Amino acid sequence: MSAGKFLATLGGTRFPTPPIWLMRQAGRYLPEYRAVRETTKSFLDFCYTPDKAVEVTLQPVRRFGLDAAIVFSDILVVPDALGQKVWFEEGEGPRLEALTDPAQFGQLSRARLIDHLAPVYRAISLAREGLPSETALLGFAGAPFTLACYMIEGGSSRDFAKVKIWAYRHPDSFGLLIDLLAEAIVDHLVCQVEAGADAVQLFDSWAGVLPEEQLFRWSLEPMVRIAHAVKERHPTVPIIAFPRAVGPAALMYRRPDAFAALSIDTGIGAHWAAQELQPHICLQGNLDPLMLVAGGGALKRETRRILDKLAHGPFVFNLGHGVMQQTPPEHVAELVDIVRQWKPSPS
Ligand code: CP3
Repeated sequence: MSAGKFLATLGGTRFPTPPIWLMRQAGRYLPEYRAVRETTKSFLDFCYTPDKAVEVTLQPVRRFGLDAAIVFSDILVVPDALGQKVWFEEGEGPRLEALTDPAQFGQLSRARLIDHLAPVYRAISLAREGLPSETALLGFAGAPFTLACYMIEGGSSRDFAKVKIWAYRHPDSFGLLIDLLAEAIVDHLVCQVEAGADAVQLFDSWAGVLPEEQLFRWSLEPMVRIAHAVKERHPTVPIIAFPRAVGPAALMYRRPDAFAALSIDTGIGAHWAAQELQPHICLQGNLDPLMLVAGGGALKRETRRILDKLAHGPFVFNLGHGVMQQTPPEHVAELVDIVRQWKPSPS
């Protein structure tokens, strides 16, 4: 299989223009996604139906010719596979039967994880077969802290007070949950790689709510541990870390021993990132998803500004967070064009 531009970039090769894919590139902004999505009521059942998951994985690649596909699934399949009750309320996002006491950890079990998630691995094998060899296929998982947020809050939250107070007041029991999740995530990532994923991304979407020392303990350390464990089994698989909204603490995640690339959110300045992060690690990011909604001259100027700052070093073009539902699909096509036509300005 040819490595393709995306994998070669993670491996250190430079191209005249960077590879591009977008977080949440499959989703409700695409009419062809909505058409398939309508055929299954429950979102988790949809994720666990390989034919449908593969179809929506391939849709954005077919439409936009992106350099990578990401398997259609969700980070919350891991708590679901561990035995926690997870469901999605129409228009409201995820809901979980919240953990309120460490005594409940005993009900979570890794034993059934691989069987439960077999449809995800099947979707990966089918997607790999259906993709052109030059298009990379990404697997992914939520990082332990972000999963713990959903598991303890019972869904999304304004301030993450429950999970933070638990972590601060009872670090020993919180650590047990993080460790259990880390082991489950290693199993899940290893199975995705064995099914055909060419690279994997760890989403720590809520890392930014933690102060620095806690960030080290509950986000960075477990993510590095997971990366090392996956690499023990598959030494060459590239792992991308996405610790969202951590600001200058992104410096801690420059860990080439663990991560092939660091995905940066919109809050990180491209100029600072080029100086402080990129000399140490390949970067991915970081267009504001709302620029993609806005389109027009603003999209063109901002995309070129990011490229001028970051495309001289190892770089994968992406958003700073996921594609939003109100994004006009034509804007994505325009973005791909702008990136592929970029030329370094004479300085
Ligand atoms: O294209 C892709 O990126 C692959 C699929 C993917 C989904 N979720 C599909 C999805 C990926 C990589 C995720 C990751 C995910 N899920 C994260 C991490 C990234 C981030 O956004 O920070 C998080 C925090 C979740 C949890 C989650 N799942 C939420 C908060 C929601 C509701 C959001 C919404 O728009 O309603 C989901 C549901 C979900 N996951 C949808 C999709 C396309 C929308 C539900 C639907 O289509 O019915």
